[in-house]
Amino acid sequence: MDLLTFLALFFVPLLPLLLLIWKTKTGKPLKLPPSPPGLPIIGNLHQMGALPYRTLAELAHEYGPVMLVRLGRVPVVFVSSPEMAKEVLKNQDANMCSRAAQPGTRKISYDYKDIAFTPYGEWWREIRKICTLELLSPKAVQSYLYVREEEVANMVDSIAKASSDPIDISEKIVNLTDTLICRTAFGKVYKGRGFDNGKFSEAVHDAMACLSNFSGEDFFPYFGRIIDKLTGHTATVDRAFHNLDNFFEMAIQDHLNPNREKTEHEDIIDVLLRLKKDQSRRIPITNNHIKGVLKDVFLASVDTSALSMGWVMTEFIRHPNVMKKVQAEIRNHVGKKGKVQESDLEELHYFRAALKESWRLHTPSPLLIPRETMCDCKLDGYDIPNKTRIHVNVFAIHKDPKIWKNPDDFIPERFIENPLDVRGQSYEYLPFSSGRRGCPGINMGVAIVELAVANLLYSFDWQLPKGMKIEDINMEEIFNLTLIKKTPLILMATPYDLS
Ligand code: HEM
Repeated sequence: MDLLTFLALFFVPLLPLLLLIWKTKTGKPLKLPPSPPGLPIIGNLHQMGALPYRTLAELAHEYGPVMLVRLGRVPVVFVSSPEMAKEVLKNQDANMCSRAAQPGTRKISYDYKDIAFTPYGEWWREIRKICTLELLSPKAVQSYLYVREEEVANMVDSIAKASSDPIDISEKIVNLTDTLICRTAFGKVYKGRGFDNGKFSEAVHDAMACLSNFSGEDFFPYFGRIIDKLTGHTATVDRAFHNLDNFFEMAIQDHLNPNREKTEHEDIIDVLLRLKKDQSRRIPITNNHIKGVLKDVFLASVDTSALSMGWVMTEFIRHPNVMKKVQAEIRNHVGKKGKVQESDLEELHYFRAALKESWRLHTPSPLLIPRETMCDCKLDGYDIPNKTRIHVNVFAIHKDPKIWKNPDDFIPERFIENPLDVRGQSYEYLPFSSGRRGCPGINMGVAIVELAVANLLYSFDWQLPKGMKIEDINMEEIFNLTLIKKTPLILMATPYDLS
């Protein structure tokens, strides 16, 4: 049931009763950020729509770069300028880098034993250190290079075999990221025992959907639990959690099996089990911590990497001249050696500029994950009380005409003239966010996307299926915490003649 249907069915009949129990809290006057007018009880929830980052970008034109929006009973601050993003992600990062302990994320994060939803504290600091030094360090990412190269080659082969037919390139990309992340985390792609027929990726995508579905408990502290039972949200989360947990449990037990075949490379579970053995750790690692981290490795990487590749391929097909220029750059550099290797990527400046431009236009996580203040703070002269949720509207910043000329156009050249980095040093460009909560998987994310897309462009010439025009490409978005292309991209591929 979608949010609006739910609001109509549940609140309209109950409105008189709910208004009776509505109380306004009085306290010392605060100078709060401007707010769009809302309704009793639901606040501004009804205005958000299916693509809230777009609605909020529009509202920011009227209410300014620091805006207070009430989502049910929860006040949420949205910032939408580079200056205010810098305040939140850098200058006041230390006071604004917690996460709200929302009931909706409690279960899926193994009671906050993950990385992404864990409030600021000892475990989060510990696991971020483990990410930097072990799990996602440049050395670790380099050690998974053979997996990336093998899986990208498998994708290219499977497209070559089917290249006389229209190819669902979105599906190929999702298969690639699923397999790639499975091998990186589990050491292999599991077959049998319930892992077959895409069951595992189904579990990952169901869990992702749960996180973006409306959760009453997150917005209505007193009766949200009843709402979630009525809408079926509780049952959906329970099912998604159960499926994901079964997979993680099986994979961990496999790694603990003394007869397990020895492998040359450590996968993510191997690393975490090795750290678990260290009894001297300030926070002992349990299997639930391992599962919480695995949840992040899958939920934070599979969709973001796949959607990044899907959008950039869409932009290439919509801009054939850019695609030709990129292909010429790649093919001139790589020659006839048959594949692009990671060592080639550094020199592919125009290709990398095109990728950055696609990350600007289709920013993977348009509102980031909400942060929570850890004390009373000030933002642009406004009072932001302790425990207030804050979103950075990166979408609004990436589309701001004051920063970007013709912001809706795909112009890779702007990243040649202005070589902004993806690493969050400049607050007008934040595809991986910045600060303490910035993406710890950036090295792996960039490595996957660059290698896969470069090989797709090197190995094939791409066209739309017969009879389809550029204007027919559906550019609609779905917001699922991440920004996904609504319909798959179907293309014709002609293998590049290497002779
Ligand atoms: C193209 C691929 C990727 C993109 C665009 C991306 C982007 C992001 C963004 C925007 C955030 C939100 C940061 C915030 O709220 O301030 C994030 C968080 C996160 N990402 Fe990534 N990501 C990608 C790949 C990955 C990969 C491959 C991993 C791990 C294997 C990963 C792990 C995480 C984790 C654990 C967090 C939560 C960090 C925290 O709360 O401390 N990401 N990512």
